Amino acid sequence: MFFVLDGVDGAGKSTQLKMFVQWLGEQGYNVVTCSDPGSTELGDQIRSLLLGKHETPISMRAEMMLFTTARTQLIQQVIKPALALGKTIVLDRYIFSTVVYQGHAGNLDPDEIWTMNRIATENHLPDATFILDIPVDIAMARLGKTLDRMESRGNEYFERVRNGFLLESERWPDTVDVIDATRTPDEIQNDIRKLAMQYIKRKASN
Ligand code: TYD
Repeated sequence: MFFVLDGVDGAGKSTQLKMFVQWLGEQGYNVVTCSDPGSTELGDQIRSLLLGKHETPISMRAEMMLFTTARTQLIQQVIKPALALGKTIVLDRYIFSTVVYQGHAGNLDPDEIWTMNRIATENHLPDATFILDIPVDIAMARLGKTLDRMESRGNEYFERVRNGFLLESERWPDTVDVIDATRTPDEIQNDIRKLAMQYIKRKASN
């Protein structure tokens, strides 16, 4: 199984990911957890370029290509081998983030980013993507005082990010679920687990 958690910064993704991975482990799944961008040496270097505060200009298109390149390495080096061994992947962000942050919010063409990412990942798409949805003012209030390069883009940008996630989700009703992340961590996690079980059963019966 290949699961992805995604959503606007400050939606509580890290907490949910930890709880989900722990639960999958308790159910006997052999889980590999990764962060996108990251989880490879190249991906970590690209991540610091993209998230670090520096003066080097990076155009939106170059930013899109860099996120996508980090992802290619992650697929080649970690995800493909793990899937081949029958492991369960839980990934912190994936293609949706690029389509939304650089596409819907960054004014690049979302369909072009999809095409690029299908090539970059050899069409490895997740079995399920859980989008944590939360109003932007609540999400922003949760972020720490020191914001990274992406987090510093302001509320208008993040409104476009949130709407982008909602729009994209509607395009993939069979594999993407939007989860109300304004509730308690346990309530959110219950939804994720219930949905995950459904996807696992569906895959087993195919
Ligand atoms: P995130 O993964 O949420 O890590 P942290 O919790 O350490 O901040 O942050 C990655 C940031 O990069 C986040 O602001 C979303 C952004 N991002 C993109 O803009 N495009 C992408 O393709 C991806 C994967 C992330």
